Amino acid sequence: MRRQLIAGNWKMNLNRASAVALALQIVEKADGCPRADLAVCPPAVYLEAVGKVVAGSRVGLGAQNMFYQLSGAFTGEISGEMLRDLGCQYVILGHSERRNILGESSEFVNRKVHAALNLGLTPMVCVGELLAEREAGDTAQVIRRQFDGTFSGLNAEEMLRVIIAYEPVWAIGTGKVATPEQAQEVHLQLRQLIAERYQESVAQQVKILYGGSVTAENAGGLLSQPDIDGALVGGASLKAEQFLGIAAQARDTQN
Ligand code: PGA
Repeated sequence: MRRQLIAGNWKMNLNRASAVALALQIVEKADGCPRADLAVCPPAVYLEAVGKVVAGSRVGLGAQNMFYQLSGAFTGEISGEMLRDLGCQYVILGHSERRNILGESSEFVNRKVHAALNLGLTPMVCVGELLAEREAGDTAQVIRRQFDGTFSGLNAEEMLRVIIAYEPVWAIGTGKVATPEQAQEVHLQLRQLIAERYQESVAQQVKILYGGSVTAENAGGLLSQPDIDGALVGGASLKAEQFLGIAAQARDTQN
């Protein structure tokens, strides 16, 4: 049995006041979603302010990125240790916007995954195919390649502490959500990859979230699939009502 996690990826949105207000609304109503674990991932500059709001509540705090070095001459970067210092439990790594706009490779993301795990942070690691790759019938191959590159060198104990987010790039911010069947197919493939590379008992415990145009309207079908253990929500996480509406539909995954 896996407990579902609904995480909000606020991306580069909001300002200090609206980030704090959104976090407050979510904290106040979090008890209405007892079956979901909840997390919010504000922009780095608002982590401290939002962290104060969610401290001691059921809502976890996550960052959207980090660098793999602990400290040093890395202008503009933020270390995992700094994130921990601000009370983060989670960090999103390898989001497709970073892979495709900022040019991050799986090898680069892999270093961050190791660094996050070494610091006791829970990485939410994104994988997903482009539209052209899906249309060419290459989805399974792309997912396998990203999986092997991104999780290279992790032992079973480390793999158990990873959260995977399957985010088909064509579904992110487009309003074009994957059907529950399309998502389930890739989630099952990911679980099988974990079983092959580690063992079945590891595969059964790793949380695999779906992300890409999730809303309160389409969440039910996705969250009832046997291998979907929650959602990484972008646009809809910027409205408390939508985000909580998604979380209200969470339930333990059993397969
Ligand atoms: P979206 O973004 O829900 O706005 O499609 C999801 C994500 O990129 O994590």
